[in-house]
This record gives sequence, C-alpha cells and structure tokens, in this order.
Amino acid sequence: MSRRPVAGTGWKMNHTASDARAYAARLRELLDGRDLSGLDAFVLPPFTALAAAQDSFAGSGVLHGAQNMHWEERGNWTGEISAPMLAELGCRVVALAHSERLQHFAENYALVRRKLEAALRFGITPVLCLGETAEDRANGRVDAALREQVATALAGLTAARVPDVILAYEPRWAIGGAEAASPDYVAERHSGLRARLVEDYGPEAAGRTRIIYGGSVTPANGPALAALPDVDGLFVGRAAWTPEGFAEIIAIVAQAAKDKKESRT
Ligand code: PGA
Repeated sequence: MSRRPVAGTGWKMNHTASDARAYAARLRELLDGRDLSGLDAFVLPPFTALAAAQDSFAGSGVLHGAQNMHWEERGNWTGEISAPMLAELGCRVVALAHSERLQHFAENYALVRRKLEAALRFGITPVLCLGETAEDRANGRVDAALREQVATALAGLTAARVPDVILAYEPRWAIGGAEAASPDYVAERHSGLRARLVEDYGPEAAGRTRIIYGGSVTPANGPALAALPDVDGLFVGRAAWTPEGFAEIIAIVAQAAKDKKESRT
C-alpha cells in the first residue's frame, strides 16, 4: 500500500521569527518550484516564530507546526499553548512526546494521549514520537518499551483515526547523537511497529499509517533509511536547521518514494 511520504524538521530552541523568514525565503529558492504535492514536508519552529512561518511558508508546499502543545483548550496553565491557538496560526502538525520533552520536562505518554486527542480535535496531525532509551536497549526491552508507548498514547483511539497520526520512531539514544540507528535496526523496529498496528487496528488502518524515522539523520545516511519499506519518511533535527539541509532531506524522501513506487509496478 502506498503511503504519502513525510519529510519533517523540528528546529528545537533555534531560530527567531526573522530567522524563520530568511529560512523560508531561501528554501523557496532551493526548491525552485519543485512540486511537493506528493509528500508532506513540514517545519516545526519555536512558538514565537509560528506567525512568521505562517506568512513566509504560505503557498510554498511546506507545512508548519509546533513542537509541543497543552491538552486543554484554555485555562489556568501559565506558559502553555493550546491546540486552538496553534490552529489559528495555521499549524497542521504538532510533535508529541519528543524525547527532550520526556527527558527534561517530565512528560509521559498518559499526558501525550490527552494532547493527541486535543490535536486531532482541532485538525492538527500529531507526530507521535516513540523510542527506547539506551537503558531499555541494554536491558533487552526495546520492543516492549515501544509496545507500551504505543498502547498508552493510542489507548481508545478507533482504527479509523489511527492513520491520522504519524508515528515517529526515534530511538532516544540516537537523537542529537553522533550516529543514527543502522538501517537493519530501524527496519526491524518499523516492521515491529507496523505488525503491532495490524494486531490492534487491522491491516487497513495499519497499512495507511505513516511511520517515519528520526535520530541523527543526515543527507549521508538518509537515503538508506528512507529506502526501507516500512519507513515512510524522515524527521530531522540538526541536519535540517539550514534550508540547504532541509532541501536535501526533502529530495531524499521524494526519491525514495519514487523508487518504491517504481519497484511496485
Ligand atoms: P537530530 O534530532 O536529527 O538532531 O538527532 C532529531 C530529533 O530530535 O527529532
């Protein structure tokens, strides 16, 4: 089954509103009218750059979204940002359960479950991050950890809604590190995640759900990862903080999707 490929980047705590404008302008030049209609490309700037992103990526084919959000729509939650606030700024995606949120801000998958519901309610696609820690890996708990995360984050979601979520497999030990996970390792995790979706939601929903890879992706290792049959795209930090880097990642994802299509026919 063919799934719409995804090329995304989270900027983390980098880039001001004016940086976002310059990034968008340069990315447009680099893409030079390239047709992005066959894939979902997105940038996740900091909250303060979202209004600038809304203006400067408009009509470029590159979506913008947020790196996190709150589960409630409004209320006494000092310092937080809600789904309707993001929707008003044109956000189409939101990253949830990013490893840095789990590690430094005490987030957990039960809270993420509530955030996911709120995002879907406002038409924002959740990019649900999943990934084992180095400790899980050392203890032989990789697949068990992923199973628990999926079960908690998607608890109670109907099969029809599951394909509205993008799963991002991001081994926590590979994020911000020196090396991505190897293609063999990633292939095993992605097919395991897909099998888990088949078990829980049936082949139709599982076949339509995008599972992307993130964690130290670069233009050098990206092609081998994007070529894997169960990898539907790449979610990139450092290597896409420049427009040049992101343009390369988009090209890699587009090429991998084209090659997969050709090999199916
Ligand atoms: P990285 O970040 O590509 O810099 O490792 C990935 C991520 O945080 O999703």
